[in-house]
Amino acid sequence: MPSSPCNVVVLLSGSGSNLQALIDSCRGETSPVRIAAVISNRADAYGLQRAAAAGIATAVLDHTAFDGREAFDDALMARIDGFAPDLVVLAGFMRILSGGFARHYQGRLLNIHPSLLPKYKGLHTHRRALEAGDTEHGCSVHFVTEELDGGPLVVQAVVPVAPADTAESLAQRVHHQEHQIYPLAVHWFAEGRLRLGEQGALLDGQPLPASGHLIRP
Ligand code: GAR
Repeated sequence: MPSSPCNVVVLLSGSGSNLQALIDSCRGETSPVRIAAVISNRADAYGLQRAAAAGIATAVLDHTAFDGREAFDDALMARIDGFAPDLVVLAGFMRILSGGFARHYQGRLLNIHPSLLPKYKGLHTHRRALEAGDTEHGCSVHFVTEELDGGPLVVQAVVPVAPADTAESLAQRVHHQEHQIYPLAVHWFAEGRLRLGEQGALLDGQPLPASGHLIRP
């Protein structure tokens, strides 16, 4: 295990329940994870309050104040790099990132997505899973590459779909699983166990399957 903690910067746009799960998972002086800062593109994101309550530095960078995606992403990279992160964690950061951003953080940028990727990239994943009549849904943690929601998978949790499920009830159960698998993946990375190789994600030096590490109920 690396001798100094893994410096993590979290980006979010909303409630920040995944941030909260990460905060809760790395309490204690021996944690390999240190959350250095939380940055949001929205000043009203509740996740900023969660960060402040945990004594974590916060910053807001309003994307509407920038002239285009590249200009915003350049400013965001400068702000992130001011915290010298070993890992950048997207936790409900609802922005499409430029290729330059993805390349800059290649191998040290993780995202969580509320579907069993490669199914249902983009938005409204729970509704789409129900409309398709899927019997299984879930969530995925993956390394971010230039392809939207398309980078190598690290871990997925499967959530069975019940006949009476609504998008809301399904979202709630998927969210619960997100709170398990994201801290798990971040800890693997912080412990030096997880990295991005030439062909995909590696755990303990071994290639992970295309689905990532699969967790079933
Ligand atoms: C989570 O469900 C996460 O998977 C999703 O946003 C939500 C944020 O919740 N992310 C995406 O859809 C990214 N494409 P939170 O703010 O409570 O952590």
